[in-house]
Amino acid sequence: MNKSYKYQQAVISLCVMFAFFLKPTYAEVVNADSIIYGDYVVTMVTDQPVIEDGAVVVIGNNIIAVGTRSAIEKKYSAKQKISGSGRILMPGLINGHTHTPMTLLRGFADDLDLMTWLNDYIFPVESTVVDKDFIRVGSELACWEMIRGGTTTFVDMYFYANVTAEVVEHCGLRAVITGVALDFPAPGSTGWDNSFKDAVEFVKLWQGKNERITPGFGPHAPYTVSPEHLKQVALKAKEMKTPVSIHVAESEIESAIIQERYNASPVKHVLDLGFAPGNLITAHMVHPNEKDIKMLVKHKVGVIHNPTSNLKLASGIAPVSKMLAEGVLVGLGTDGAASNNDLDLWEEMRLSALIHKVKMNNPTAIPALTALKMATSMGAEAIGLGEETGQLIAGKRADMIQVSFDSPRLSPMYNVVSHLVYAIDANDVVTSMVSGKLLMKDRKVLTLDSKSVKDAANAKSRIIMKTLVSGKPSH
Ligand code: NI
Repeated sequence: MNKSYKYQQAVISLCVMFAFFLKPTYAEVVNADSIIYGDYVVTMVTDQPVIEDGAVVVIGNNIIAVGTRSAIEKKYSAKQKISGSGRILMPGLINGHTHTPMTLLRGFADDLDLMTWLNDYIFPVESTVVDKDFIRVGSELACWEMIRGGTTTFVDMYFYANVTAEVVEHCGLRAVITGVALDFPAPGSTGWDNSFKDAVEFVKLWQGKNERITPGFGPHAPYTVSPEHLKQVALKAKEMKTPVSIHVAESEIESAIIQERYNASPVKHVLDLGFAPGNLITAHMVHPNEKDIKMLVKHKVGVIHNPTSNLKLASGIAPVSKMLAEGVLVGLGTDGAASNNDLDLWEEMRLSALIHKVKMNNPTAIPALTALKMATSMGAEAIGLGEETGQLIAGKRADMIQVSFDSPRLSPMYNVVSHLVYAIDANDVVTSMVSGKLLMKDRKVLTLDSKSVKDAANAKSRIIMKTLVSGKPSH
C-alpha cells in the first residue's frame, strides 16, 4: 500500500463522511403544496415588521411558515410557486357585515334615509321578488365581486341562508352565514316561529360540515325582533355555540324607538337579553353612549363599522376612535350592495381612516395601520374567527391575497401600509387564496364564471323590474 493509495482512501472516506453529514440537510427540505411570494409580506402580526422579499408556505389548508425568501427556500420546496414580483402579499380582507344577495338591488333605491329606504323600498321589493333563485344569483354575483376585490371572509345575513351557504361552499370563500329572522312575514317565512325554526335547522345542517362555513343566527334588529324572540336566539346560540349577527344602534330613530318601547338604549336592551360573551357580531353601532361602549367591552361584542352605508343613509358617524380606545374589537363591513353600492373593503378602509379624522378634528384619529387591522386581524377577531384567519402566521388558515403595485399610479412607494389604505384599490388585487386553494390567479376568478354570473344577474334584474308593476322604484 503506497502513500498515494492511502491518500486516495483518506479522501474517499472524507467524502463519504461529508456526504453522510450532508444527507440529513437535504432530507430536511419539506415538500409543501404552495409557496407564495411577495416583494413585501404584510403579516399583520403585532410587532412583526413588513418582510421584504418574503414568502408564505402552505400545506393543505394551513400556513406552515412565513419568512424571507432565502430562509424559506432553504427549508421548503413546493409544486406550486406563485411569483411575488411587483406584488404585496397580505391576509385576505374580512367583510364583517353584508347581505350578499342584495347585489341584485344595487342602485335600486338611492338617496333615502334608513327607515324610508327599508320600509318603502327594500322590505316591499324583497317580499315580491326574493326566492331561492334570487339568492343563488345574487350570492354568486357578490362572491365573484368579493374574490376580485380581495375579500376572503365575509359575514352574511339574509333569507334562504342555505342557498348562500351552497354558493360559498362552491366558490371557495370563508363565511359566517346567518339566516335573517324577523317578527313579520318575509321571503321564505310566514313570521317568527317559522323563520326561527328554519334558522335552527340551518345551523344544524351546516355546523361542522365545511371548515370554511360557520352557520349562525341573524335576528335583523331590536326594532324588528321582539325581546322575547331575541332571548330565544340568545339561548339557542349559547346552546349551539354559534354566532349571532344583528344590526344595533344604526340610526337615531332606532335609538328613539327602543328608548320609547323598552326604556333603554339599543345596546343595553340587546345585551340585557342574555347573549353569551363573544357571541355577538353587531353591525353599524353608530349611536352607542359612553355606558354602552363599556358594556360592549365587558360582553366582548364584535362591532362592525360600515362607513359607506352610514354615510349614504345619513345614519351618522360611529364613534370608532372612542370604541377602539376603550378596547372594543372593531371590524369593517360594506353592508349590502343596495346601501353602498359595492362590496369593496378598500373603500371602507379608506373611509374609516378619513371620516374619523374630520369627526375628531384630529388627523391622527385612525391611522392607516389601524384601518388595515380593522379590515384584517381585528376584523377576524370581531367576528370570532381570530384563531383561523386575519394574519399570515404559521398555524392559521392559508387565506391571503396578492396586490400588485406595478401601476404608475402607485409609484413611488415609501410605505406599504400607507399605500394599502390610501392608494390601492380593489382592481389592484391579482391573487386570492382561501384555505390553501386558489380562487383567483392573475385577476381571473377560477371558481365562478364571470360571464354567466353577469348574464344571470342582468336577466334577474329584468324580471325584478317586470314584477314591480306598481312602479315603486323611482329611478
Ligand atoms: Ni345591514
